[in-house]
Order: sequence, then structure tokens, then C-alpha cells
Amino acid sequence: MSAVTLDIPITITQTLRQFLDEHPNLRYTFFGGKGGVGKTVMAGAAAVGLAQRGHRVLLASTNPVHSLSSMLDQDVFGKPTPVEGVPNLWAYEIDTRDTIERAKQDIREKISWFLKYADIKGRAEEFIEAATMNPAFEESAMFENMLEIIFKGEYDVYVFDTAPTANARRLLGMSAVYTLWVNKMIQSREEARKLRIKLSFSKEAKEEKDPLLEYLVTFQERIERAKKLLTDPEKTAFFFVTLPEALPIAVIRRFINWFTDFGIPIGGVVVNMYMDPRAIPDDADAFVKNRVAMQQRYMKEIEQLFGPMVRAVVPLFDTEIRGVEMLKRTADYLFA
Ligand SMILES: Nc1ncnc2c1ncn2[C@@H]1O[C@H](COP(=O)(O)OP(=O)(O)OP(=O)(O)O)[C@@H](O)[C@H]1O
Ligand SMILES: [Mg+2]
Repeated sequence: MSAVTLDIPITITQTLRQFLDEHPNLRYTFFGGKGGVGKTVMAGAAAVGLAQRGHRVLLASTNPVHSLSSMLDQDVFGKPTPVEGVPNLWAYEIDTRDTIERAKQDIREKISWFLKYADIKGRAEEFIEAATMNPAFEESAMFENMLEIIFKGEYDVYVFDTAPTANARRLLGMSAVYTLWVNKMIQSREEARKLRIKLSFSKEAKEEKDPLLEYLVTFQERIERAKKLLTDPEKTAFFFVTLPEALPIAVIRRFINWFTDFGIPIGGVVVNMYMDPRAIPDDADAFVKNRVAMQQRYMKEIEQLFGPMVRAVVPLFDTEIRGVEMLKRTADYLFA
């Protein structure tokens, strides 16, 4: 038995390898799923495999828990760092706190400047608090940060550990609302500007720039650009990791429905921690045999629910997945 063939009760109609061959322009990949199912290791293994295919790959994590450094056994915190032992691969654990602080500073400047521009005295701190003291602000700061990395375009392929699932969905879902809102704002600013010019005799007013309008236009352009990239099935793919178990299946089923509704491209489903029945000796414990039988049942369910979306099955190893060698071993299954 070859190391990368597993005895599985379902047919994989398109493997990850075939999917990648059919998507030569794929640039943005994400891994989502229930907590602890192996999103970080699958993102890591995918990044290793993609780098081995010759792409310059950035593996990035927006997860506040220091996951990449410990998985890679190498400090990759704070800046893109070449991964030892894998040419073409860089890893980057984003400094969440710093990102959020910078976003707060940024919004602080915008609000203060806006209040001044609108001639509203004082109270800036209250506005700033209202704008930044909520989890959605932190999430969107991380999302913005991710977009910044993407827009810089320094790598061929980006692999993001932990899909900003709720976030992407919310922001993309809201992008239509944002656009409506920004258009409305632009329209009324434009009218206000015209009125001011009409009422003014000075030449100065005519040539005066409108910084708020400029900001809104830039903001809208960013959202539109992000939406275009993240909904382009040639460029973007969200992968979902599950185990052959009820809860992780239910979680990705929900994600897949949301994503389908929002037109976000789904790359496929990866089944992790599979126990190969052939690897289980006849005299194995009842405990082990029961788990294997349970997994077989859930594999059938996975086939029914996700069928042609299943791209790979990765076995449960007898140790945790740490270090580049282990990731390469995992990649062998992921890219089988
Ligand atoms: N196929 C596997 N065989 C053995 N251990 C595995 C396997 N897949 C993942 N693990 C281990 O399971 C643990 C959880 O994996 P990982 O951190 O990738 O999950 P996660 O989905 O990213 O978790 P979180 O939701 O906390 O970010 C890790 O210790 C990892 O090494
Ligand atoms: Mg993780």
C-alpha cells in the first residue's frame, strides 16, 4: 500500500491537484471550518504543496492565537519570514494587537479631522469610542489588514489560515449596502459642493477639494476591488475542513450555504483525521473499531452532502502535525 492511498468509502471526482490544474490563476485561498478541525495545518500543508509546485507563496494567519510559529517551529511573528526547508514559502503571523491599534489611530485621525471639517466642536473621544469599542471593529480591522496584504501583490499565491468566514460573508454581504450608502453620500456631498460654489463669489471655493468625498470614493473603490477579487472563481477559493463527525459537518454545511448565497467561490471540502479501516488490526480495541465504524457512516454523509466538492482526505496521524517535514507528509495526502 502506497503511503498516500487511503481506503475510503467515497469517490473523489476532482482532487485538489486537479482543481489547481484547472485553476492556474488561483491566487487567494482560505481555509475555514469548526474550531480545532485542522484549518491551520491544512493551510500550512496547502502552502507547502503550492510552493513545491513553484509558486511564491505567502502563508498568513490573522488568528490572534500564535498558531503558525508553533506549527512551523519557527518564529514568523510580525513580518513575512522565509520558511526554513521550503523554498518559495513565506509565513506571516499578523500582529493582531498592532493592527487593531493602527486601525484605531487611523479612525481617530479621520474622525477628528471630520469633526473639524464639519465644524463640530469637541466630543471627538466619544465618537471614537463608539466607532472602535466593538468586536466588529476589530474584525474589520483584521479584514482590512488582509486586504492590504492582498493588494500589495508581492506573492503569486496567498494562503490564509482561518477563513474570516463570518467576516467575509458580512463584509461582502454589506458591500451592496456600503455601495448604496457611499453613493448616496457622494451624491449629497456633490450637491452641497455645487451649492457652496453657487453661493460663493470667491474663486477659492470653486477649487476647494473635498477630502471627505475623496475618502468615501477611495473607500468604495477598495470595497469594490476586494469584492471583485474575492468573488472571482478564477482567483479565489475558500476550502472547508471537516472531520467525519456530525458537528464539523454541520458547521461547514452552513458556511457552504452562506458562501453560495453570497457568490463567494468554494474551492472544496477537505476531510481530516480519517482513520483508515485497513490500518486497523483485527484485534483492535472495541473503542477504536467503533470510531472507525462511526467515521465510515459520516463519510457516506459527507458524500451525500458535498459529493463533487470533496477534494482530499487526510488521515489521522499518530502524532500532532508540527514542523515542515510533517507538513510535507500532510501535503502528500492533500495533493494526492
Ligand atoms: N490529521 C491529523 N493528524 C494528527 N493530528 C492532527 C491532524 N490534523 C490536525 N492535527 C492536530 O490537531 C490540532 C488542531 O489542528 P489545527 O491547529 O490545525 O486546527 P485549527 O482548526 O486550526 O484550530 P483552531 O480552530 O483552534 O484554529 C493540532 O495539534 C494539530 O497538530
Ligand atoms: Mg488554527
